[in-house]
Amino acid sequence: MLVLGIETSCDECSAAIVADGKTILSNIIATQIPYHAPWNGVVPEIASRKHTEWIYTVVKEAIDKAQLRVTDIEAVAVTNRPGLLGSLIVGLSFAKAFAWARNIPFIAVDHMLAHLYAPRLQTDNGEQVTDSEEHTAENKKQSVEYPFLGLLVSGGHTIICRVDNFDDITVLGTTIDDAAGEAFDKIAKHYNFGYPGGAVIDKMARNGDDSAFNFPMPSLHKGGFTEGSDGRNIQCHRYDVSYSGIKNACINQLDNFKIKKTEHTNEDIAASFQKTAVNILLRALLNAAEDKGLTTIVAGGGVAANSLLREKLAGQKHLKCVFPPLELCGDNAAMVAGIGYHYLARGDKSTLNATAQARVEGFKKKYP
Ligand code: KG4
Ligand code: ZN
Repeated sequence: MLVLGIETSCDECSAAIVADGKTILSNIIATQIPYHAPWNGVVPEIASRKHTEWIYTVVKEAIDKAQLRVTDIEAVAVTNRPGLLGSLIVGLSFAKAFAWARNIPFIAVDHMLAHLYAPRLQTDNGEQVTDSEEHTAENKKQSVEYPFLGLLVSGGHTIICRVDNFDDITVLGTTIDDAAGEAFDKIAKHYNFGYPGGAVIDKMARNGDDSAFNFPMPSLHKGGFTEGSDGRNIQCHRYDVSYSGIKNACINQLDNFKIKKTEHTNEDIAASFQKTAVNILLRALLNAAEDKGLTTIVAGGGVAANSLLREKLAGQKHLKCVFPPLELCGDNAAMVAGIGYHYLARGDKSTLNATAQARVEGFKKKYP
C-alpha cells in the first residue's frame, strides 16, 4: 500500500511516500529553522503561516521524487497530535482534502508514537536507513520485537514507556517540568550558542571539558508508588526526570562564567551541561529497564540524535539499544506514513471530523 505521510506538528513541513509501512520512496523535510532562529525558538504564528505556504509544494515534491502520480497514492496518514495547534491544522486539513478529493482513506496519528516507529523504516533499495555512526551501523537489519522500552525525547516531551505494539504504549515516566530538548534549547538561548540548541550544544561539547562545571542531578522526592514486575512497590519517580534544576543551575553560571571567561570556554559549559542532561535520562531509563525486565530500548525524537546519549546507550552491553538514523530522529513524514500503514492495514480510518489536539493525556506530568 502506498501511503502519503504528512507532518506539520511543529517547525518541519514534511511529506513522504512509504510503501507497506516499510520502504521510504521519498521523504521531503522542509525546515523552518532560519525563520525561527532570530527568536531562538519556534514562533507558532510563523510556523503555521510557513506550513500554509509550503504544504502543497512539499507534498508535490514527495510524489514527484517517488516517481509516482497523484492517482497512485492509496491512503494518507497525518500527524494530528500533540503539537502546535495552528501547525497541526495545516497538515490535517491538507490530508483531509487530499483524501476526500481522491476518495481514499486517511488516518490521523500520534506524533510521539510515530517517532517510536522510525527505526522500522528502510530505503527503497531494501537497506535499513543508516547514518555513518558506527554504533548505529550495529543496528542495521536488527529486528525490533515487542515489548520494548521506549525513550521519547523531543523539544516538547520526555517520555519513558513500555511499548507492546505500534499503537500500545504504557507511560512509565515523564518529565515533571521541562522536556530534555527544551532544556538544550533554553541553555543555548541564554548563552547565545545558536538555534536549535540541541545540535549546537552536541557539537560544541565535543571540544569541551565535561568536568569544568558540576551541574547537579535532580532528586525527586514527591509522588507515589507503583507496582514493580516482582510485586514490590517502587517509587514512580524512579522513571521521571526533571530539567528545571539543571537548567537554572546552568543559567545561573552565566554571570560567574563571564567573569572567569579566561579559565573556561563555551565548549566547557556545553559539555558539562550535556553530561548531566544525558545522565538524567540514563538514570530513569536504566531504572525502568531493570524494574520492568525489558532488555530492548528504542529511542526516538530530536534528542535521540544526541551523540553522547547514543554512545552511552550503545555502551550498555546488557541492553539492545535501537536508534533511528540521524535523518529520522527529528520530525519527518516517513515515520507518519510508516505507522499510518499499520492502522490502515487493519481497517482503521479517520473521518473528516478528526480534529487537531495540542496535548495528549499522560504525556506530560506536572506536580504541584
Ligand atoms: O522531535 P523534534 O525534531 O521536534 C519535536 O517534536 O519537538 O525534536 C526537536 C528537539 C529540539 O529541542 C532540539 O534542540 C533537539 O530535539 N535536538 C537535540 C539534538 N538534535 C536535536 N538535542 C540534543 N542533541 C542533539 N544532537
Ligand atoms: Zn517530534
